[in-house]
Amino acid sequence: MQMVINNLSKSYGEKLALDGFTYSFRPGVTAILGPNGAGKTTLMNLITDCTKRQSGEILYDGTDILKLGREFRKRLGFMPQSQGMYEQMTAQDFLAYMAEIKGIRKKTAARQIRELLSVVNLENAAHQKVGGFSGGMRQRVLLAQAMLGTPEVLLLDEPTAGLDPEERIRLRGYIEKLAVDKIVLITTHITSDVETIADEILLMNHGKLLFAADRAEFISGCGAGSLEDAYIKRLHTL
Ligand SMILES: Nc1ncnc2c1ncn2[C@@H]1O[C@H](COP(=O)(O)OP(=O)(O)OP(=O)(O)O)[C@@H](O)[C@H]1O
Ligand SMILES: [Mg+2]
Repeated sequence: MQMVINNLSKSYGEKLALDGFTYSFRPGVTAILGPNGAGKTTLMNLITDCTKRQSGEILYDGTDILKLGREFRKRLGFMPQSQGMYEQMTAQDFLAYMAEIKGIRKKTAARQIRELLSVVNLENAAHQKVGGFSGGMRQRVLLAQAMLGTPEVLLLDEPTAGLDPEERIRLRGYIEKLAVDKIVLITTHITSDVETIADEILLMNHGKLLFAADRAEFISGCGAGSLEDAYIKRLHTL
């Protein structure tokens, strides 16, 4: 299981949103840090093929994902940064609907939905409409949705944005539990969200990958005491 990205670029008009991004993702949690507009969401949109790339390649176990098409999408789970939810649907119905879109058989879907609702602690709210959910409950449904079909590659774009500290810690725990044996990419502006769970840390700015290292090296390699310190230090020295 390996996802290799070579020289991937994407522009919106004159704006180069992603500039020659190259990295090999392995199983484990990779955190992608960087200021607003760094290109993090653009990278995820290119991996989901929601956005057309200008140049470069994304290889999954050696084959470009454009060639794999549906075969790759089946192995992909995505929790987007901004998302519309079907307010009138119950959590259970929403997950069943997403499972159908993903082409998961009804029986398998029913089992997975039951298991996932339990993992994200929403069993008791399964039959309530998502329109009445708090931010944290919504993020949990969306995380469960991304996990349908037991993906090998999981993309989480700011999964904890807008959550209170307790909900954040809870969601982080779920992510850690669900990340086993997967290539997990997670973007966040809250460094403490990934400080304990990330194996690798990537730092991006202006569409470029500035620096990548394992968590210990990322922090102590620049003499920082925390990931937040290291982020600031590295961002301003690279
Ligand atoms: N659909 C679009 N049309 C035009 N420009 C876009 C579009 N999407 C992104 N951009 C631009 O591309 C750059 C990268 O944006 P992107 O959303 O990838 O950043 P990000 O790192 O995810 O930022 P944030 O931390 O704010 O989510 C920005 O300059 C942004 O304005
Ligand atoms: Mg973004």
